Amino acid sequence: MKGIILAAGAGSRLYPASLPISKILLPVYDKPMIYYPITTLLLAGIKDILIITNSCDIDNFKKVLGDGSSIGVKFSYAIQEIPKGIADSFLIAEKFIDNSPVALILGDNIFHGFGFSSMLKEVGKRDFGATVFGYQVQDPERFGVVEFDKNNKAISIEEKPKNPKSNYAVTGLYFYDNKVVEYAKTLKPSQRGELEITDLNKIYLEKNQLKVEILGRGFAWLDTGTFESLLQAANFVQSMEINTGMKIASIEEVAYRMGYITKEQLLKISEKYKQNGYGKYLEKIVNL
Ligand code: DAU
Repeated sequence: MKGIILAAGAGSRLYPASLPISKILLPVYDKPMIYYPITTLLLAGIKDILIITNSCDIDNFKKVLGDGSSIGVKFSYAIQEIPKGIADSFLIAEKFIDNSPVALILGDNIFHGFGFSSMLKEVGKRDFGATVFGYQVQDPERFGVVEFDKNNKAISIEEKPKNPKSNYAVTGLYFYDNKVVEYAKTLKPSQRGELEITDLNKIYLEKNQLKVEILGRGFAWLDTGTFESLLQAANFVQSMEINTGMKIASIEEVAYRMGYITKEQLLKISEKYKQNGYGKYLEKIVNL
């Protein structure tokens, strides 16, 4: 399975904070925002990742992440010139995807919760149909919304409906089989002029090939779209990390735990951060 991180939006809702640098590279407590979606993909067993950015930010992403070899994975980069919609990712990534199944995650989506790693491991093995994740929210009209029947089977999915049929938002993490590019090519821009990810999911739903995994109440799906929610996300990460002594979304730790790098490689990375708690944490991980 291959992975795509969509990180091309202008981030204008966070101006002026995101004027100097992409929103997706802004810190969420102790690490850049993009570490969180990268970790999600790594936990799904995905090592070949395409990062889609806009042309003015691509060099910053490369500076932060390089080619991925230091953590035993492969990062490549592509540009989305105009924000034509989330499903445009599959047209941009056609060559990269080739004949593989693929996961897409939005660069500003942060997931954290018990059992998520094993869920991802399982979903990452699927090579037929599509899998999305439903999460109960107070304001479903802001999202893609999925409706279920009595047996918890998804029966409809709508983008930002005025009258939502449920409180379940579709999160920004999607897994597809290798038909996704073919289907994405059939999409027409919506009223807001975008190739909608919801329209793509509808194609799978109509074919009876859409699985919706529910992320339960103990689970955190964090928004980083406003100043308040970005700060809340940082506070959440800080309090979890302080309480447990474990970091959320350290890409180096996850790469080590997934067996992508050795102890020696992790120690070498920790040297780079030895002046601070992040480096000390990586050192600690080796000795756990
Ligand atoms: O976060 C989950 C929601 O994401 C889903 O529930 C919705 O179904 C889905 O449409 C999307 O909702 P939004 O329309 O609110 O997403 P937004 O336009 O905020 O874009 C999400 C991220 O993707 C954001 O960081 C900007 C980036 N993006 C967006 C588009 C449309 C791009 O990089 N390129 C794009 O063309």
